[in-house]
Amino acid sequence: MITLNTTAPVAHAGLLGLGVFRPERIVTNDEICQKIDSNDEWIQERSGIIERRHADAHETVVTMATAAALAALADAGISPEQLDMVMIATVTHRYQTPSAAVEVAAAIGAVNAAAIDSSAACAGFCYGLGIADGMIRSGVAKYILLIGAEKLSEIVNFEDRGTAFLFADGAGAVIIGETKVQGIGPTIWGADGTQLDAIIMEPDVFTAEKTGNPSVLTMQGQQVFRWAVGQMGDACTQAMTAAGVSVADLAAFVPHQANNRITDALVKQLNLPDHVAIARDIQYSGNTSAASVPLALARLRENGEIKSGDLVLMVGFGAGLVHAAQVALVP
Ligand code: UT7
Repeated sequence: MITLNTTAPVAHAGLLGLGVFRPERIVTNDEICQKIDSNDEWIQERSGIIERRHADAHETVVTMATAAALAALADAGISPEQLDMVMIATVTHRYQTPSAAVEVAAAIGAVNAAAIDSSAACAGFCYGLGIADGMIRSGVAKYILLIGAEKLSEIVNFEDRGTAFLFADGAGAVIIGETKVQGIGPTIWGADGTQLDAIIMEPDVFTAEKTGNPSVLTMQGQQVFRWAVGQMGDACTQAMTAAGVSVADLAAFVPHQANNRITDALVKQLNLPDHVAIARDIQYSGNTSAASVPLALARLRENGEIKSGDLVLMVGFGAGLVHAAQVALVP
């Protein structure tokens, strides 16, 4: 019988660097309400969003991901040539193929890296972290660049008052590599394809004409809200149990920035102590799908609410429906 060599595993993986890109253009609730029957008060009360950022025409998934990637590389002190993999979590890249990841790899000079996009919507970043953790510990890769990047303003119908105010643009990136102690807890993840209609992006010629992106997004907001509040607390608890930590060990809770009321419900269910900082980046960034968790993590670190080595609990959830949760040490 032939036996094959395998890569040599390493003991521990963790986050080595973090970087983000936020588009310059701030879009207020009043501006959104020019096209829908709504108002600033309703949007703030029902979602928590005060303003969001929309990318300009020259800012694409690729340019935003590239900027976040360069910031993460600098934060980690890693050169692009050292990367073995560039993985982008996105649902808004213009082409089915080639991937955004191949363009970003070329743009940053990651000449030794494999490159792939993954589609797990708003859970994409946490899914990617679970995959990268396994790849590093198995020895398949030494350094991985994981980016969540979205230009949702291209696929939102700004006349749909169920989604127009919610979704926005941005990118967040991390470098994952070998660490002295384990810095990423086991990922608790799952998928429920029976609810595929809850949030769906479908081909749409009108959007293609307006924005150049061939898809439009529709969402059954209440259905997603109920599912998230009903299931994500349990996923978070499982992620802490699997890692052998409790809420007392947490410095911050960084859920997908879907709706402040979902975050409030999860904070209550998890009985988080007062010392745990709660990510509320949705107030200024809106819901940026796969970019929301790294953007929210970065804001907490920028504000000094968390520091390197602190433990955070993250959970992503969205179209699929899919979800992924894990704890991790802040880079
Ligand atoms: O990122 C992927 C995952 N996505 C999510 O997790 C999103 C989850 N869902 C949500 O965040 C919420 O469902 C929304 C923020 C999208 C909507 O909030 P809601 O509280 O679920 O609103 P609703 O659809 O239940 O509507 C409540 C009321 C309705 O009026 P009546 O029937 O009570 O008189 C709607 O017609 O609010 C009305 N409404 C609005 N009013 C002003 C719905 N949209 C708007 C609006 N402005 N934009």
